[in-house]
Amino acid sequence: MNVNVSMFRQEVSRVRLSKAAFDELLSTKTIPEPYSHANRFDARPAYIDPVHSQVLSAELRNIRNMIDHEAHVLILDGFKTDDLADFKSLIWTFGSLLGKPMVQNHLGHKVIEVYDRGGKSIEDGARYHQTRQGAYVHNDGVSDPLPIDYLILACGQKALLGGESILINASAVYAELMEFPDVLEELKCDFYFENRGMAIEEQLFRAPILSFSKEGIPLIRYFRVYIESAHLKAGVPLTSGQIQALDFLDTVLDQSSVQHRVLLEPGQVLISADNKFLHTRTHFIDINAPSEEIDDATPLKDLNRYMLRMWLRKQ
Ligand SMILES: [Fe+2]
Repeated sequence: MNVNVSMFRQEVSRVRLSKAAFDELLSTKTIPEPYSHANRFDARPAYIDPVHSQVLSAELRNIRNMIDHEAHVLILDGFKTDDLADFKSLIWTFGSLLGKPMVQNHLGHKVIEVYDRGGKSIEDGARYHQTRQGAYVHNDGVSDPLPIDYLILACGQKALLGGESILINASAVYAELMEFPDVLEELKCDFYFENRGMAIEEQLFRAPILSFSKEGIPLIRYFRVYIESAHLKAGVPLTSGQIQALDFLDTVLDQSSVQHRVLLEPGQVLISADNKFLHTRTHFIDINAPSEEIDDATPLKDLNRYMLRMWLRKQ
């Protein structure tokens, strides 16, 4: 079968909430969750009143539909705020209305701040979001057996240089690999994965890298460094066939024919179906020295590269 890769490489759609929907979003309240870490901004999911938020409800349905059934990725404009506290609150409210926020680490956090802490590297065990490293193409839902329906990456500030987001449609990757059926077969078999950072107790699980949705759309689960680490911990070395399949996959992921590059601007929110789109970023250089903690009162304009990440499941 001859599949044209370019059919999966349309421009990433840019959309914006209407003024009426955005006003409804700004007036949305959050409700306390029992037994939660009540002091954190992500402890209280937003509550949407369908009677008073009809425009917003309809536009959220539209966005879900685009991610579920159409392009599987989009950029939403218009979420710029003055300071970090307002940005966190706005993105949290929006995200918790779009889907059900998932816990992303062993501390129970549902929003992760993505910025360089100036510490250890991914190879030394750091999670990706704490570094300024680029180059590892992955999807986020590699640490949990269940997939992430909506991945949100909201840009508070871009880097001085670099830090482009690279997006890769799993369907385009599949189309490129159809010439190599042995590689495809290997990727459809189980590999070991680990729950890095998700729980104090380390757990390994097995899953295929490539699978298919009920509709036959290719789904992907991939982060090579984590897979290699999980195989080491399991005491089950990758076979030469598996290594070759990963090398073929990495080589395809490196081709411009499958990559979209976007440089997110402050106030832009990238939303994607995590198991249908791989992503990475390019290496970046910040304007200021890295720091471990950032004060919520900091104006967005004074930040280094700063993103908020949410993982959502369908309600
Ligand atoms: Fe990621």
